[in-house]
Amino acid sequence: MVIVKHTYIADLKDKVGEEVTLHGWVYNKRSSGKIWFLILRDGTGYTQCVVLKDQVKDELSNLDTVLTQESSVSVTGYIKEDKRAVGGYELEVSDITVHQVAQNYPISKKDHGTAFLMDNRHLWIRSKRQNAVLKVRAEIIRACRDFLDSNGFVNLDTPIFTSNACEGTTTLFETDYFGQQAFLAQSGQLYNEANIMSFGKVYCFGPTFRAEKSKTRRHLTEFWMLEPEMAYCDLDENMEWAEGLICHVVDWALNRCKEQLDVLERDTSQLEKIKKPFARISYSDAVGILHKSGEEFGWGGDFGGGHETIISDQFEGPVIVHRFPAAIKAFYMKRDPEDDRLALGMDFLAPEGYGEIIGGGEREPDYDALLRNLKHHELPEEAFQWYLDLRKYGTVPHAGFGLGLERTVTWICGLSHLRETIPFPRMIYRLEP
Ligand code: 4AD
Repeated sequence: MVIVKHTYIADLKDKVGEEVTLHGWVYNKRSSGKIWFLILRDGTGYTQCVVLKDQVKDELSNLDTVLTQESSVSVTGYIKEDKRAVGGYELEVSDITVHQVAQNYPISKKDHGTAFLMDNRHLWIRSKRQNAVLKVRAEIIRACRDFLDSNGFVNLDTPIFTSNACEGTTTLFETDYFGQQAFLAQSGQLYNEANIMSFGKVYCFGPTFRAEKSKTRRHLTEFWMLEPEMAYCDLDENMEWAEGLICHVVDWALNRCKEQLDVLERDTSQLEKIKKPFARISYSDAVGILHKSGEEFGWGGDFGGGHETIISDQFEGPVIVHRFPAAIKAFYMKRDPEDDRLALGMDFLAPEGYGEIIGGGEREPDYDALLRNLKHHELPEEAFQWYLDLRKYGTVPHAGFGLGLERTVTWICGLSHLRETIPFPRMIYRLEP
């Protein structure tokens, strides 16, 4: 089916010599004697529109004094190729329809503070940088889906309202569900574990919620997680799936987001180095690296951002840390048969100090061991009856992981804070806009 659509700036390469009408917003303008220039943006790019004052009707020749940044306009004219112009093409204007003149647009070309930009996020997303970041986000989502869809995973959605905790009780958002206590999902994993018993390999991708009181550059209270889960899969195979996914995402971004990564001045040579296999080290080895670098760190503790950077700086690409102390990992993780103090978990640390982007592991398949873990974590057995059932009716070895979308986009784009990687970030002190 052909959908008749209007011409976008991204289509101009096929329109040279034709008259087109572009619809967009005024990004910039300047006058020079008998000519005035308008830089138009339409979401797909920027292009220069030239108004020759003595060749157009009077209203048009004077519009340069009326139009302001972000005014909405439709511009008609002939397309010429011009290597010197923004985007490589120029539109020789024959007509302009003004939809609205924007009054006092608050975001000017000068630098603004972060708090101001965050308060104006609904407008800030129009900027070139934000547009680039959010396009990379959209492409990374496509890359993730492409990898899993073409490898036989079935996409099944998991609930947002839940009656049980997946990732500990300290970061739960509680809500009232017609008089019953409910929580916003921290992860879709437990439901994925039910779904694999029907489909083999599944994934869910959706918003997840954590009442994170921390105010860091890596924490959102609402973030998007891609969670693949596989039946008959162990920790090693799980690592391979996650490694394959990351390589696919990096390749995809390098191939399809060149323009955006350029806008962001990302040093892509760092991304070009990402190749399989990634280094794999145990938690105990990672603690050894910290000690060698002079850090005081007790075995059994959880790594903070600073620790992760010291560890990942030892490696060129991402590093997979595995076999963590069971005490710091979730109740559903399988214990290491060779050392009961350890859980078969894995974390992927991104290079360049970007920290953990993936967390996952092999799940406890045994009913009694799982029940013991639930009790140990003081979780209510009744709320997990359905989950325990999965170990009663054809339990199998299985594993999976969760990739944090915003942290991955932060790394690929080379940003210093993840708040720019989601259109409207939710953080401890941020519910608006
Ligand atoms: O390590 P986490 O907590 O793992 C899970 O939730 C598992 N249930 C996933 C699974 O095995 N199916 O979180 C996974 C990833 C982290 O590595 C991180 O990238 C991201 O989710 N993440 C956050 N991203 C932004 N803000 C937060 N508050 C995040 N918490 C976790």
